[in-house]
Amino acid sequence: MSDPASGEAGTEKDTRTEQDTLTDVQAKILACEDLDGLKAVERQYIGKQGVVARLLASISDYPPEERRDVGKRANVLKQAVQEAVRSRQHALADAQVAAERRGEGFDPSLPPPRPRRGSLHPLTQVTRELEDLFQSMGYRVLDGPEIETDYYNFEALNIHADHPARDSHDTFFCEGDGHLVMRTHTSPVQIRALENLEPPLRVVVPGKVFRHESTDASHDHTFHQMEGLVVDRDISVAHLVGAMKTLLRGIFDRDLEVRLRPGYFPFVEPGFELDARCPFCEEGCRVCKRTRWIELLPCGLVHPNVLRSGGLDPDVWGGFAFGLGLSRLVMLRHGIDDVRHLLGGDVRFLEQF
Ligand code: DAH
Repeated sequence: MSDPASGEAGTEKDTRTEQDTLTDVQAKILACEDLDGLKAVERQYIGKQGVVARLLASISDYPPEERRDVGKRANVLKQAVQEAVRSRQHALADAQVAAERRGEGFDPSLPPPRPRRGSLHPLTQVTRELEDLFQSMGYRVLDGPEIETDYYNFEALNIHADHPARDSHDTFFCEGDGHLVMRTHTSPVQIRALENLEPPLRVVVPGKVFRHESTDASHDHTFHQMEGLVVDRDISVAHLVGAMKTLLRGIFDRDLEVRLRPGYFPFVEPGFELDARCPFCEEGCRVCKRTRWIELLPCGLVHPNVLRSGGLDPDVWGGFAFGLGLSRLVMLRHGIDDVRHLLGGDVRFLEQF
């Protein structure tokens, strides 16, 4: 059996008395100026391969009558080191706080931490782009109330009380006599524009609309539209088509072939569904459902009754109107397959824009 005191069983340190080791380590600990240094000393003495561990591992090398004592001393050393490390940790932390309080360690010439940058919601981006586009063509951007009267939302738009078109506008009625509704479209602002502005006029109205219907990937109770209204003398379908082509060029950055299909909306006559050539494919894709056309814009020439509601003489004035689905447009542009993402408020979704 080797004699542990001879130094063969361990490092030089093991050969010294534990008292020496203890004074030694306490001095080292007190000399530590930072937490990393402290950790290193701690590891050296009470880590897995440290002095204490080696001492305990070598117990069987001692004569039986000494073993108990060696074990005890190892534990005393271990506890003393733990204690000294803990108290040095506190001292270092206190010193750091005190230094910070004195303003040390603060470099006023360093740039401040960068705030995380947010981004505009994709709906806001599209809305702003289209507002710019329309303003460049002489349109005014209008706003209207999200809670509307039955009159503006329906009546004045030629959708009378028993009109079947009311069924297709699943309406949220406000409490009371049913006279106030959450607007089901942005079209009521057409009437407000006619009442408040002198013709000729061109306006667009971006905004939120509400429908009381069950939600799924393509329906949400709240979505965004942009209404357009142009009133002037001698307005024809050609003006409408021209304006819509300009709009599409603004959205998709190129000229797209369009086609008109008849569509029924009580506030326009004739009314159309305007389709555009699918901007995403050459021979049919998921977006256009392999038809090469995407249904984009309901539109038409303003119905004489609507002009009358707005106080204009339909024999003098004419106009066209359109209702762009902003939510749908954002989905098309970014390939979003569920409309509910748009207003879901999930940052992981929003961070992508
Ligand atoms: N307001 C209609 C809706 O939400 C959309 C619409 C259709 C608007 C035709 C128009 C239009 O201005 O001419 O269902």
